[in-house]
Amino acid sequence: MKENAYFDNAATTWPKPEPVYEFMDSFFRSHGVNPGRSGSLLAVEAEQMITKTRSMLAQFFNFSGPSNRVVFTLNGTDALNQAIAGLVRPGDHVITTRLEHNAVLRTMNHMERDLGISVSRVSPNDAGYINPEEIAANISDDTRAIVVNHASNVIGTVQPLREIADIARAAGIPLIVDAAQTAGVLPIDMDALGISVLTFPGHKGLFGPMGVGGMIVSESVDLTPHRFGGTGVDSISTYQPDAYPYRLEAGTVSLPGIAGLHAAQLWFRELGIRCATLLNVDGVDSLSHGALCRYAMMHIHEIEVSHIERIESVLNRYDAVTVLGGATRKARVATLSFTVEGIATAQVADQLDADHQICARAGLQCAPLVHVDAGTVEGGGTIRLSPGFFTDEEDMQQLIEALEDILAT
Ligand SMILES: Cc1ncc(COP(=O)(O)O)c(C=O)c1O
Repeated sequence: MKENAYFDNAATTWPKPEPVYEFMDSFFRSHGVNPGRSGSLLAVEAEQMITKTRSMLAQFFNFSGPSNRVVFTLNGTDALNQAIAGLVRPGDHVITTRLEHNAVLRTMNHMERDLGISVSRVSPNDAGYINPEEIAANISDDTRAIVVNHASNVIGTVQPLREIADIARAAGIPLIVDAAQTAGVLPIDMDALGISVLTFPGHKGLFGPMGVGGMIVSESVDLTPHRFGGTGVDSISTYQPDAYPYRLEAGTVSLPGIAGLHAAQLWFRELGIRCATLLNVDGVDSLSHGALCRYAMMHIHEIEVSHIERIESVLNRYDAVTVLGGATRKARVATLSFTVEGIATAQVADQLDADHQICARAGLQCAPLVHVDAGTVEGGGTIRLSPGFFTDEEDMQQLIEALEDILAT
């Protein structure tokens, strides 16, 4: 039995690909200087690694604008706070959903209460999907932004982004997409969708470490900075520079974090080469970084969904189990949440942890409105299971045996 069978990849992916650990360690040792803050060769090389990472991430999300619009942040929450506050002004109206993580929900609630912003929160249907028409129906002359979660971190449903993006584009309203649960798992085409700001944590599907995230700000919008400080450029100016990324990157960036993202991007590319070769794709050698990474993501998504479907089929054998969203889910990532009639959520989680060494997450998963709508607040939320690309057969066996043991009692 494994000491830790990890089923909490929606919180953070673990483990990371081996080259991520190796490159973070080696680059931090060899180039652990402050990038962009001096003309020394080491600082220049550190900056070059960061610039290359911006460019790989731009291609990864098919963003053909300048790669200096790939901005590094502390995490997904920080990117969302900066994106929303950078766009929205007092008196504006924002459309969002009841599926949002607290990174959006609390940000919007504070702006509503403290800054006089009005907010419409669209409800998903029983299966956990937003109807894009309901977003369209809430648009008014004051609507300044639409902020949507691409995939729910509680129930794993993937929202119809193309339709939502079409509506936003037709109405000329900036669209902010929280890709925390999809970046690195589902290909996202910023250019084709016309997304205004795409935000992502580095530590989930992008396989970087904690402490780094980012956003890509399309040229259709400009975000007003809300953080001010040193950038290593234009130091004579006593105001934040207008140029990206400095406009939004005040202070020292996480060099080890970005090194992790850098190595992870190369890992995606290598995986993509292997996948495309197995699929007999013509001209693999001439495929772009973005195209190769899309093959990798399709493979990762397929593996992860096969795990979650297997887990769901075990849960579905028990009448006492309710899986949120139910069996009608189609577009999904590998996350599900469930409750067990007659056994408290906390008890199931304790048993999974203490008796079976399963790392899962119990509670409200930082998305309280999903639980209000599902009626799961009083029971202490749900148990969430999220296998990942590195989940193996031993993990799966351990989980299935644990579930059978707990649910049979
Ligand atoms: C949907 C969603 N949005 C935003 C976040 C926040 O990301 P971070 O924890 O990197 O700030 C998370 C993290 O769980 C998430 O699942």
